[in-house]
Amino acid sequence: MITNTYLAIAVLTAGLAVALPARPAQAEDATDQGKVLAYTCMGCHGIEGYRNAYPSYRVPRLGGQKSAYIKSALIAYRNGNRPHPTMQAQGGSLSDEDIDQLAAWFGSQGEASDDVDAEDVAGFAPAAICVTCHGVAGAGVEPQPPVLSGQQEDYLVHALGQYKTGKRSGNVMVAFAAGLSDADIATIAAFYAARDGLITPDKDR
Ligand code: HEC
Ligand code: HEC
Repeated sequence: MITNTYLAIAVLTAGLAVALPARPAQAEDATDQGKVLAYTCMGCHGIEGYRNAYPSYRVPRLGGQKSAYIKSALIAYRNGNRPHPTMQAQGGSLSDEDIDQLAAWFGSQGEASDDVDAEDVAGFAPAAICVTCHGVAGAGVEPQPPVLSGQQEDYLVHALGQYKTGKRSGNVMVAFAAGLSDADIATIAAFYAARDGLITPDKDR
C-alpha cells in the first residue's frame, strides 16, 4: 500500500518535473527571440531622446508599453493605417511571429501603467474623458489603450495631431482627438509626459 502511494507520488512528480518548465521556457524563448530581433530597432528606440528627422520629435518610448499595443501598432504600420515611412519599412518585413516576439521583449522592459484617475485631472475638462481609457479605469478596455505615462511629450503632441488630422486612422482615437484644441493637446501631453511610466529600453539588459 505504502509502496503504491510512493510510486504514485514518484510518477506524479516525474510528470510534473517534465510538464512544469515547458511553459516558462516557451515564454522566455519568445522574449529572447524578441531581444535578438530588436537589435535593429534599438538604433532608434534604445537611444534616450533620439529624434525623428522630419518633422522633429523624439521617438516613442517602448519599454514597459503593453505588448498588445506594440503588436497592433506594428500591424498598423504594416497594413498602412499608420503613415511613417521608416516604421512601415520595418513593419513590412516582419512576420506575425516576429511581431509577437518583439512585443514580448519590449513589453518586458519595464512596469508601466496610466495610474491616473479623475481627481488627478480635476479642473481640466478635456482630459476627463481620456482617463476612462488611459487611466486606472481603462485597465480592462479593449482594444488595449497604450500607456501614455512617461511617454515623450513631443511624441504625444505629434500622435494626437495625427489622429486629429486623420493621418493615423482605423481606431477610436480619431473621434476623441477631433475635439481637442492645440492648447488642450499641449496640456495633456505635458501632463502624461511628466508622470513615471514608460522608459527607453536598455539594449544590454
Ligand atoms: C530609424 C529609426 C527607427 C527604427 C530603426 C525603428 N523605429 Fe520604431 N519608431 C520610430 C519613429 C520615429 C516612430 C514614431 C513614428 C510615428 O510617428 O508613427 C516609431 C514608432 C514605433 C512604434 C509605435 C509606438 C507607439 O507608441 O505608438 C512601435 C511599436 C515601434 N516603433 C517599434 C519598432 C520596432 C519593433 C522596430 C524594429 C523592428 C523599430 N520600431 C525600428 C523610429 C524607428
Ligand atoms: C475608448 C477608449 C479611449 C479613450 C476615451 C481615449 N483613448 Fe487614446 N487610445 C485608445 C486606443 C485604443 C489607442 C490606440 C489606437 C491606435 O492603435 O492608434 C489610443 C491611443 C492614444 C494615443 C497614442 C499613443 C501612442 O503611443 O502613440 C494617445 C496620445 C492618446 N490615445 C491620447 C488620448 C487622449 C488625450 C484622450 C482624451 C482626449 C484619449 N486618448 C481618449 C483608447 C482611448
